[in-house]
Amino acid sequence: MAKTSTYVALQADETGHVPYTPEEDAVWRDLLARQMASVQARMASPYLKGLSRLSLPVDRVAQCNEVTARLREATGWRVEPVPALIPFGRFFQLLADCCFPAASFIRRREDFDYIEEPDIFHEIFGHTPLLTDARFAAFSQAIGQAGLRADKADYAWLIRLYWFTIEFGLMRENGVLKGLGSGLASSIAELEWATAGQPELRPFDVIGILRTPYRIDILQPVYFVIHDLDDLFAAAKRDLLADVATARQLGLHAPKYPAKVAS
Ligand SMILES: [Fe+2]
Repeated sequence: MAKTSTYVALQADETGHVPYTPEEDAVWRDLLARQMASVQARMASPYLKGLSRLSLPVDRVAQCNEVTARLREATGWRVEPVPALIPFGRFFQLLADCCFPAASFIRRREDFDYIEEPDIFHEIFGHTPLLTDARFAAFSQAIGQAGLRADKADYAWLIRLYWFTIEFGLMRENGVLKGLGSGLASSIAELEWATAGQPELRPFDVIGILRTPYRIDILQPVYFVIHDLDDLFAAAKRDLLADVATARQLGLHAPKYPAKVAS
């Protein structure tokens, strides 16, 4: 989460229910309505299948516990609101335990089109549909398990694998480029940009991903494309820390993005 955030995490009550105002429910409703046509046209079928399976509410913010009920049936995963910033060690621990940590606040109207930090719309609408798929769930858990064994110095390397797949992965279906990652599902602008053919596309390759730097605050200039979720399932069985060691030895690729201008 950005250090300059003006958002405050919302607390769940003892039943796991997070209270939202009518305006916050309306923001969810409008975000979902706007995004639905775009994801139907541009997201890959495993995401759409998961979205359909979750039957998210259309007129109010989804609650983590109701999403958990559906995820448990599918893959045994759960989603829990997190109260604040969580360190990488805790993040990896939760993924290893088949738990997806979700920021609980929802963006304000003035941030309707773009918000750098993850909000509940990104977390639920973006992330949880694919967690209904056992192969994607296994891959997510494998990153968590690798993170638990990793030195802190390796976290930034490992998180690139998360970034270029779970957040911003692409998938080719019947020759058509589709979005897969949560950062695409929850962003109209980036979903259109990523699938329109302008950015550089690279075939899915774990070592190549680990060596590719990124910035979180721009449309990505490079995306990685999988054939199907079996690619991720195969990656889940790799020794990811050995892959990090290999990537370290080979070094980072030159960035494809401009240097960030200090503000
Ligand atoms: Fe995310």
